[in-house]
Amino acid sequence: MARVFHATAGDSRTTARRGSASGGRAGIVAGYLAPHPPHLVYAENPPQNEPRSTGGWEVLRWGYEELRRRLAAHAPDVLVVHAPHWITMVGHHVNCVPRSRGISVEPIFPHLFRYHYDFATDVALAEAIVAEAADAGLVASAMRDEGVRVDYATIGALHLANPAWDIPVVSLSANNNPYFYSDAALDEMETLGAATARAVERTGRRAVLLASNSLSHLHWDREPDLPEDMGVERPFNHHQYAADMELLKVVREGPTERLRAAVPAHIAAAQAETKAGSLTWLLAAMGWPAVAGDVLAYGTVIATGNAVVEWVP
Ligand SMILES: [Fe+2]
Repeated sequence: MARVFHATAGDSRTTARRGSASGGRAGIVAGYLAPHPPHLVYAENPPQNEPRSTGGWEVLRWGYEELRRRLAAHAPDVLVVHAPHWITMVGHHVNCVPRSRGISVEPIFPHLFRYHYDFATDVALAEAIVAEAADAGLVASAMRDEGVRVDYATIGALHLANPAWDIPVVSLSANNNPYFYSDAALDEMETLGAATARAVERTGRRAVLLASNSLSHLHWDREPDLPEDMGVERPFNHHQYAADMELLKVVREGPTERLRAAVPAHIAAAQAETKAGSLTWLLAAMGWPAVAGDVLAYGTVIATGNAVVEWVP
């Protein structure tokens, strides 16, 4: 099994970081759109992933390298991630397993992603999010079953943002199914985002949020002999690409308030994975800050659009 690293939530190292020279204040200090295509992890050849590659999707991975530099500068106590492939049909679930260990496998691309994970959960914050969400009227549940395999969208975003796994994690489920329903139900994500912010505040954490979503989401149904053959990597069509650019124009111009309308319009135009609500949750948790987003990279993966974006509220 690959060698992995973990830190215990609330240990002396992480506690010392709070209020440190990095800027000090508790609260949500940054949010990232952090898409999770398993191909990006495969292309990195980390020791935790079993398949080997010759690279590929470099521009997106360079964007993630910049994300990692910025993330380190923010010096968070905890990474809070919302991901679309931990689907819970009844309520919003929060992983409260103190230490999650196992193998995460991408069911469509098991030849690219079989990842050995081992990470610490910030259980106090996880439980606080459950409590705040329930108080706000959402169906919310603490997931305490060590046998539940962590999905690849959670693992993918967390690995790409912090491959050292040395920051504790809180992971939230997607209370929807992005593949079955035509209409996006984003209202609850506003409530969940606000509940997340209150829990971060109540526990005094310095948090960075990750929304594990791709943008346009139509993709090929055939794979080249070499999965990382960049000679065939391109947008699905011009319409999908143009829809992504229209959304990213609003992201780059700001303020985020404009995304309240732009995100649902983009979902309708491009089958965007943001339908799962991760991006809306992130922006709501940050209080829809009056800032522009910084697009660190954009690229396609099997034709889907993917952007790495930073917002600093
Ligand atoms: Fe996905």
